[in-house]
Amino acid sequence: MRAYSSHKDIIKLVNKVDSVGLVPTMGSLHEGHLSLIRKAISENEKVIVSIYVNPLQFNNVNDLKKYPRDIKNDLQRLEAISDIIVYVPGDNDIYEKDKKKKKYNFGHFTKIMEGKVRPGHFDGVATVVEKLLRMFNPSNAYFGEKDFQQLILIKTLVKKQELKVSIVGCETIREDDGLAMSSRNKLLNSSERTIAGNVIRLLKKAKKLYKSSTKEETKFNIIKDALMIENFNLEYFEILDISELSGFLEEEKEIRAFIACKVGKIRLIDNIKI
Ligand code: PAJ
Repeated sequence: MRAYSSHKDIIKLVNKVDSVGLVPTMGSLHEGHLSLIRKAISENEKVIVSIYVNPLQFNNVNDLKKYPRDIKNDLQRLEAISDIIVYVPGDNDIYEKDKKKKKYNFGHFTKIMEGKVRPGHFDGVATVVEKLLRMFNPSNAYFGEKDFQQLILIKTLVKKQELKVSIVGCETIREDDGLAMSSRNKLLNSSERTIAGNVIRLLKKAKKLYKSSTKEETKFNIIKDALMIENFNLEYFEILDISELSGFLEEEKEIRAFIACKVGKIRLIDNIKI
């Protein structure tokens, strides 16, 4: 593992390589991130992992301030993996003089769920991911299904901007009780951690109900259940067909349940195929 804060140094290392895999992250690495990195290593000659808490995608200053950062530990974890390139930029290296959100028009799907609850968030994500993709020109870039709407966003971005990269979606890695791994989980205290177990419980319940009820009945039942849980604030629960999420992509029909909630002050999101 070698870490660089200048993208120019990395470009010199990868410009003659056959296949480059890029794994964008915001650090505080956990097994979910590591699974993306391992997949990238198995499919590419060189792998670049970026660690950058992108201020443009936070619509709340406090959330940005509180976002867990642990670069020392991250670099230690990556040390143990293999011969990878780690990009740890400051704002100036990534945005140069232009730290501004680009305004995209991705249509309806950026206005529902995460797009609705976090206005401007997806423009911020797309801005930084487009920068990274243009910077390193990777053959493959890896994103988790944990952030499914983000994965669709990136696929749409690549198609619209005609970027030559293949976007690889990777399955969600979970704790033993099913809670999706997330950098934010470490902010939960022990009673909140127990309550957070309801996220996967509700998703699994939805999967079971959906076998014998309509979408509306399932949604009603899950929302009613969620509202009864103390210290669990549901932001949204949705059942959607992926092929309809972004009309622009030619995704196959697949029904997924999506949930976002706050446990105490910590925001959690998850989704599963139902
Ligand atoms: P971050 O939340 O650090 O996540 C980096 C990548 O890891 C994302 O593609 C995310 O979907 C994936 N990931 C997170 N938890 C996962 C889990 N439990 N299982 C599998 N994959 C998981 O997502 C971002 O950063 C940022 O928005 C970013 C794309 C880096 C742009 O700033």
